[in-house]
Amino acid sequence: MNATRMVTAAALCLAMPGHAWAAGLADAPPGALSCSGCHATAAKADAAVPRLIGRNPADIVAAMQAFKSGQVPSTVMERIAKGFSDDEVKAIAAWYGAQKD
Ligand code: HEC
Repeated sequence: MNATRMVTAAALCLAMPGHAWAAGLADAPPGALSCSGCHATAAKADAAVPRLIGRNPADIVAAMQAFKSGQVPSTVMERIAKGFSDDEVKAIAAWYGAQKD
């Protein structure tokens, strides 16, 4: 996170009141940083687990709900998804969606 991005994110916050735009790590909602142990944050990381950064928040929420219900089979995500409420998942998804490389 560089200074320019901080300013840009802050400007977005002001421009869109009520939107869950986050400025960076310090504003990460509860639980969001636990995801990055497995979901790589760096674009160059050659990881088997898909990245969450920059994804459409609605897709993350839908995937989490599908894991939680068992609709989509998973190795670990069903357990992880069950640990978060719908509101927590929405906050985490919005935060990841707002992050950029
Ligand atoms: C222990 C490692 C681990 C952690 C921690 C973890 N994930 Fe995952 N995630 C995975 C794996 C592995 C998959 C592939 C599905 C599976 O096998 O469970 C996955 C898949 C996903 C997907 C689907 C991505 C796609 O493109 O199909 C989403 C969304 C996701 N995780 C969100 C999260 C969120 C949000 C968190 C934090 C609350 C999180 N994950 C924490 C390992 C992890």
